[in-house]
Amino acid sequence: MESRKWWKEAVIYEVYPRSFQDSNGDGIGDIRGVISRLPYIKEFGANTIWLCPCYKSPWSDNGYDIADYYQVAPEFGTNEDLYELIEKARKYDIKILLDLVMNHTSDEHAWFQEALKNPDSKYRGYYFFEKGIDGQPPNNWRSYFGGSAWEPVPGEENMFYLHAFSKKMPDLNWENPAMREELYTMINWWLDKGIGGFRIDAILNIKKNMVYGTVEPDGDDGLTAIDKYIINQPGIGALLSELKSRTFANYDIMTVAEAAVPDEQVAEFIGPDGYFNMSFDFRAADIDIPETGEWFKPTDWTVNQLRDIFLTVQTQVQNAGWGAVYLENHDQNRSVNKYFSGSAVNDVTKKMLGTILLGFRGTPVIYQGEEIGMENIELDSIDQYSDIQTYHQYQAGIQAGLDSGYVYKTVTHRSRDNSRTPMQWDQGKNAGFTDGAPWFPVNDNFVDINVERERNNKDSVYAYYKSLVALRTDSRYKDVLVYGTVIPMFDKMDNIVAYRRQLDNQELQIIANFQENEARLELGAEKFKVLLSNYENVDLANTKLYLKPYQAVILANF
Ligand code: GLC
Ligand code: CA
Repeated sequence: MESRKWWKEAVIYEVYPRSFQDSNGDGIGDIRGVISRLPYIKEFGANTIWLCPCYKSPWSDNGYDIADYYQVAPEFGTNEDLYELIEKARKYDIKILLDLVMNHTSDEHAWFQEALKNPDSKYRGYYFFEKGIDGQPPNNWRSYFGGSAWEPVPGEENMFYLHAFSKKMPDLNWENPAMREELYTMINWWLDKGIGGFRIDAILNIKKNMVYGTVEPDGDDGLTAIDKYIINQPGIGALLSELKSRTFANYDIMTVAEAAVPDEQVAEFIGPDGYFNMSFDFRAADIDIPETGEWFKPTDWTVNQLRDIFLTVQTQVQNAGWGAVYLENHDQNRSVNKYFSGSAVNDVTKKMLGTILLGFRGTPVIYQGEEIGMENIELDSIDQYSDIQTYHQYQAGIQAGLDSGYVYKTVTHRSRDNSRTPMQWDQGKNAGFTDGAPWFPVNDNFVDINVERERNNKDSVYAYYKSLVALRTDSRYKDVLVYGTVIPMFDKMDNIVAYRRQLDNQELQIIANFQENEARLELGAEKFKVLLSNYENVDLANTKLYLKPYQAVILANF
């Protein structure tokens, strides 16, 4: 029997504070707004909130560029507001996870500013300052956001600093022990405030395999993708062990790493003694983009491929560890728009996705608005978008010589802003998000898709998600849903996504018909009853199950 842990039984709700709830009319969501919505999160049934970064930041990458780890950004409120959120959430039995961004800081962080001002400062060693080669960058790495990963140091000749993401996000040098000490002090300082743990950003990037000079380019820009040199490099284990022993290991917390862990390292990273409690895999969420990460070259993925990814990730992680499962987050477009199009973007498919997600083994993460079926936004021009990666992708597509209309369509479909639109609370002004002018447009569909309306409708996406979450805490089903083994079902049948969850003699079957056609399935000898479905009726006669288009069911043998 799998060891029992509170963080395996948790349901995480991801809050993107800037777009959740504005409390003071400045058009920007804030911490007091989150406090005011605690009753909603409680009612929905989540018991853990992952709060995206709310620290002081110039907001070049939406708060993932931190200028002061110890300070709440003024637009989000004060540190006292955050302490109050932690305290009030505790009264609702809700834990707060903060976002821990340690691969880089903002270029406006005091350490980097000192390092720029004074070449002899100790803070130079906190980052990667390297001499160039005849005025050219030390190597030809391409940053994740496009262009060279090296930026010339202003006022100095032939000197560069490394940034894996934007040039306003210099990478921290984890080889520097003093820098690591400062991070540990900061982490423990937040842990002592009583938080429930951390979601840990871009952590596989911290160990660099530095090279000098030009390596074989992989694109027309003469550059090569940086990930081969900085993701999960040999030696990272020692850094992660130290990180864990100096901080996380001394508290009863949850750690969720943003880290796609290779199969053979599952135990090392997310096994019972792993560096983290759990991690995110990216394969299903990124099925629609190529490995180069170019949004303007969408893949021709199939449902069978998606099914194979879902089931492979589930069974691989299960062999040795624990995962966090999700369909959406602040870096993704809305799942219903990613996996479906045209008239298939509807409540039935939204509920089907929810069924698959909440049936998985792993701690589920539901992103704000997913529970009411929020959708992508379509804006008229690229200037209306805010996300830095959207701009970079758009420029890269244009530079690749592709048709601008095509680039616009594919890039904005994938834009991270799709999930960062204001939360849709009600039918009032700005969907109840703010009394002022919202920092980003509210999706026009808020009149139909909003919390207030869906809460009063027992057939809504919200009501359905709530039932799914409730199953995870229902004493009858919790054990098998949390701790049950995952076993793929019907995995050779086209367009069916299905698996069993088994614990002792309890079994659930989660079955989804990912297509417009009906499907006939033979369930085997045992008797099952219907626990939940996205259709009112389920055609289950003895062991024969007939599924309507996009129908999903959860069946139980007890
Ligand atoms: C993570 C975050 C993303 C951010 C990046 C750099 O992937 O989720 O939003 O842009 O790290 O910090
Ligand atoms: Ca505000």
